[in-house]
Amino acid sequence: MSDKILYSYTGLFDTPDEIIHAAGKTADEGYKKFDINTPYPVHGMDDAMKLKPSRLGYFALVFGLSGTFATVLLMTWMTAFDYPIVIGGKPFFAFPAFVPIIFEVTVLAASVATVLTMLFVFFKFPNNSHPLHDTDYMKAVTSEKYGISIQAEDELFNEEKVKNFLQALGAKNITPVYFDNEELNVKHAVFEPKFISLLAVVFILVSGATYITLNKLMFITPFNWMMEQSKTIVQESNVLFADGFGMRNPVAGTVPRDQIPYKYKGDPEGAGENLANPLIPSKEVFALGEVKYNTYCSPCHGFHAEGDSRLRGQFPNPPSMHSEKVRNWSDGRLFHVITEGQNIMPAYSSQLSREERWAVVLYIRALQRSLNAKESDLQ
Ligand code: HEC
Repeated sequence: MSDKILYSYTGLFDTPDEIIHAAGKTADEGYKKFDINTPYPVHGMDDAMKLKPSRLGYFALVFGLSGTFATVLLMTWMTAFDYPIVIGGKPFFAFPAFVPIIFEVTVLAASVATVLTMLFVFFKFPNNSHPLHDTDYMKAVTSEKYGISIQAEDELFNEEKVKNFLQALGAKNITPVYFDNEELNVKHAVFEPKFISLLAVVFILVSGATYITLNKLMFITPFNWMMEQSKTIVQESNVLFADGFGMRNPVAGTVPRDQIPYKYKGDPEGAGENLANPLIPSKEVFALGEVKYNTYCSPCHGFHAEGDSRLRGQFPNPPSMHSEKVRNWSDGRLFHVITEGQNIMPAYSSQLSREERWAVVLYIRALQRSLNAKESDLQ
């Protein structure tokens, strides 16, 4: 036992009132280096132990203020010097806009610094052992007892006197606590091979899990039957067909609805022989023909089909439709000229529907007979 170094004398109490009383007495007695261990924070303990306010606040203040200062500098430099951009007409040094970030960084710096200060300055990290660890005393005070531990470091410490003092206070289980020689010899537990290999395992696991999460898990599509179905997208190549085109030509011989293909392309004689006017002449049909003729034909052919163009030489005048030739043409032959055009006269198949073209043909017939009436017209 003689080779062991005494750390402290400990004693246990049953109630918070007793421990407060004991702490007060110990402080009054003049002991400075003693500690109280309770399962939960006991109100009024700081006062009873005559503790000075913690110095941690000063560290927090200093680090917090340096965070404030650094943020102001950083943002001023960025927005006013390095990359000056006018945002919403505000000045480059727009302090109100800086406030939220200054606040955040101040809080961040203060809190991180507080934790680090606690670890490195107060707990002397990487030291991770304490003589009270793994003692029956510590087991008791972390569940239901209230304990006091007077350290041998204290100037007033005297083994017999402290024992008697604790007894007088009514403490139970008064026991000495010794430094653990093994732990004393270990200077930096963090550099132990055991600890290093633990770190290595954690590193491998964490980086592996991170890699898998970021590169694999996040790219698994939960279900792909709607977003990734094969379909044709405009202006994009397509895998559905061998030629890579999404748009298909209609099957050969397809006839669009309501559009019967014109059979007599480039064949005016065929059209003249085979096409017959399907319309039965009526007031409505003539009215339709008149409207369409006046709109589409009269600018060149004149209102009476005499070839008296209103275009004043901007387009060659067409011949009169009252000529013997055109009068003797069949309806189909006229229909063909409107549908396909003739020499410099353009086609009118896209402006006029089939029915409208036939109506125009009937109207032209009426115009022709107004100048060259037949005997039968008078009856
Ligand atoms: C832009 C002027 C212009 C318009 C509009 C126009 N034509 Fe013509 N048309 C001509 C010209 C020019 C000719 C003569 C073409 C030629 O040299 O064979 C012609 C020829 C014709 C002929 C044949 C005449 C012949 O003697 O060979 C007919 C029939 C005819 N047009 C009907 C129409 C009908 C019906 C319309 C309205 C749907 C129409 N044209 C609209 C300029 C026009």
